[in-house]
Amino acid sequence: MKKYNFDRIIPRTGTNSVKYDGVLHTFGSEDVIPLWVADMDFRCPEPVVEALRQRVEHGIYGYTFVPDGYYEALAGWMEKRHRWSVRREWVVFSPGVVAALHLAVNAFTRPGDGVIVQPPVYFPFFSAVKENGRRLVYNELKLENSRYTINWDDLREKASRGARMLLFCHPHNPAGRCWTAGELETLADICREYDLILLSDEIHADLTLPGYRHLPMAALNEEIAGRTITCVSASKTFNLAGLATSAVIISNSELREKFESFCRKVHTGSGNLFGYTAAEAAYRYGEEWLNEVLEYLSENIQFAQNFFRKHIPVIEPIPTEATYLMWLDCRKLGLSPEQLGDFMVKQAGIGLNNGAMFGPGGEGFMRLNVACPRALLERALERLRRAIDHDFSIR
Ligand SMILES: Cc1ncc(COP(=O)(O)O)c(C=O)c1O
Repeated sequence: MKKYNFDRIIPRTGTNSVKYDGVLHTFGSEDVIPLWVADMDFRCPEPVVEALRQRVEHGIYGYTFVPDGYYEALAGWMEKRHRWSVRREWVVFSPGVVAALHLAVNAFTRPGDGVIVQPPVYFPFFSAVKENGRRLVYNELKLENSRYTINWDDLREKASRGARMLLFCHPHNPAGRCWTAGELETLADICREYDLILLSDEIHADLTLPGYRHLPMAALNEEIAGRTITCVSASKTFNLAGLATSAVIISNSELREKFESFCRKVHTGSGNLFGYTAAEAAYRYGEEWLNEVLEYLSENIQFAQNFFRKHIPVIEPIPTEATYLMWLDCRKLGLSPEQLGDFMVKQAGIGLNNGAMFGPGGEGFMRLNVACPRALLERALERLRRAIDHDFSIR
């Protein structure tokens, strides 16, 4: 018997939600079903709501320490869920993972240094490099038989030309890959060989779908742990993104001091008490919710895959191993990225992320967020089917 009901539609309009209230600004129309920004339309675990309620009831929200309980809960979660032993002193606060990317680029590289990214990838990876005056180095993923892999020869070549750092998306958004132990080992070898600092963005780690297993990069071996900056957060896992609390885990004390020193320079502070309250409750009591949500998400993915196969075969979803973000290959429609974006908004009335935002290799793709009640997903897919039937004869 399931405890949580993810079919329930909870109105989000009027809550300053980027996903809902940002639709007009982003898509130029209000008649758009929003399936873009990566948060979920589900109420977060009840123990989280209860912990926040209790804290709110106190009525005094003055300066606070980072609670011991938060560190314990985070370490307990990493051990239990990912078999990774994290020590308290390794954990540094960041208001977000994107903020951590910017902080790390500043802390570990100098202006003009090369930083490798693996597109198509979550677009703030590019801004973290470019806005800080570093050089973006692309190691484009390979797409073969509907599966993305790393182009190792290209990575070696780019690394050999003097890059300092690699921003690794693990699991990968939007490619949906849960990287295997073999892939992580090869990557670790290359980082060692070319002396690269590895930033492993593991914000989607807990959203690895049934049948796959996330292996934290820093848990692979001591050598790679010594050059890895891992970013994690309860925000993506438990739908707490508005609480702006995430953790950067660095076991190498020298690297950690460099990172902390930059954090002091720009004064990142020590966070928000509600963020810690929520994250601690989520890590301690949210596992049942997460297991149920993962089941629901994988059913949504299955539902969408079947729908595309049956009704919209011209669009092919890339199989998703992790995250609730489906990567749709729309290249057979023969549209430019602008035309594709326009088609989705104006003809279909659905708000997706345009693949072109994710850099080289993203053109002709769209990213679909399926973390919503199935009825909403179905309504959006129906809209898309009607638009395709109307505008395209290739079926
Ligand atoms: C790979 C990746 N990193 C980071 C983030 C956002 O992190 P934050 O909200 O903590 O800045 C996202 C959100 O979609 C993401 O997909």
